[in-house]
Amino acid sequence: MKQTQTIPETFLGVGYTRDRAGLPLEAVRVPVPRPAADQVLIRVAASSLNPLEYKLADLNFIGRTPPVVLGLDLAGVVVAAGQGVSGVALGDAVAAMADLNGDGGWVATGGSGGEGGYAVAREFLTVRKPPSLSFRDAAALPMCFLSAFASLYPAVQAGDTVYIPGGGGGVGHLAVQMAARALGAGLVISSGSTPQSIALARQSGAQHVFNYKRDDIAAEIAKLTSGRGVDLVFDATYSEQGFVETAKTNARR
Ligand SMILES: NC(=O)c1ccc[n+]([C@@H]2O[C@H](COP(=O)([O-])OP(=O)(O)OC[C@H]3O[C@@H](n4cnc5c(N)ncnc54)[C@H](OP(=O)(O)O)[C@@H]3O)[C@@H](O)[C@H]2O)c1
Repeated sequence: MKQTQTIPETFLGVGYTRDRAGLPLEAVRVPVPRPAADQVLIRVAASSLNPLEYKLADLNFIGRTPPVVLGLDLAGVVVAAGQGVSGVALGDAVAAMADLNGDGGWVATGGSGGEGGYAVAREFLTVRKPPSLSFRDAAALPMCFLSAFASLYPAVQAGDTVYIPGGGGGVGHLAVQMAARALGAGLVISSGSTPQSIALARQSGAQHVFNYKRDDIAAEIAKLTSGRGVDLVFDATYSEQGFVETAKTNARR
């Protein structure tokens, strides 16, 4: 293992200690993990709490062995690395996603926003953080970004008409940005119900944002596409009724 500095034996994280019904969360002292050959150890500057994590604390459906520290989405500085790591260097500022069946880096003491914890992440789930992005903003990205990325690349083709329900949600607003600004979609349509999420979907690049509680979205999309429907739908709302409605908007190419 390559390492830059003295690393403590343990840290006080935030997580759960029971298998199921792990809420409310508690402070739990855990060993600082050692990176395997394909992993880096990150001193956490900021971590975020993905909704998945408090669901895991309640249901533990991935079968993690408590105590578990939350904060899988994180950003910080690489302080140690396994022998097989070559794309990220010690001292690099990074954003990363820790393994779903392992520990995150949410620390109970120290600075605000998770600073001072330690977590391991695989090299392929670790990227160098652009200097223009704060640690705090970078820590909000990994899991939502990867979910949008894995779904849209390479499915969206330049010029496509794309419908992304819930474009003001965590995954949705990144999917809208990717489709509209990175993949060259010709038209991005979205939906939401609250003024905040509708505004965020618009700000993210959706040209039309409908209210799924009020509008007949399938009819609106039929009007916008001369009855053809959209080329691609990415529905990250996890609403069964929403899926039924969304299926009516697709052109089936
Ligand atoms: N967060 C992650 O990293 C991640 C990763 C993979 C999968 N997922 C899954 O993806 C889903 C969304 O997660 P999220 O974190 O992005 O949640 P979120 O931030 O709560 O976003 C959900 C969005 O969906 C909108 N919505 C709800 N019902 C809708 C409907 N019938 N039609 C159109 N829009 C609707 C909501 O809009 P309003 O609030 O305006 O009603 C909200 O903006 C969840 O099922 C989650 O399990 C999440």
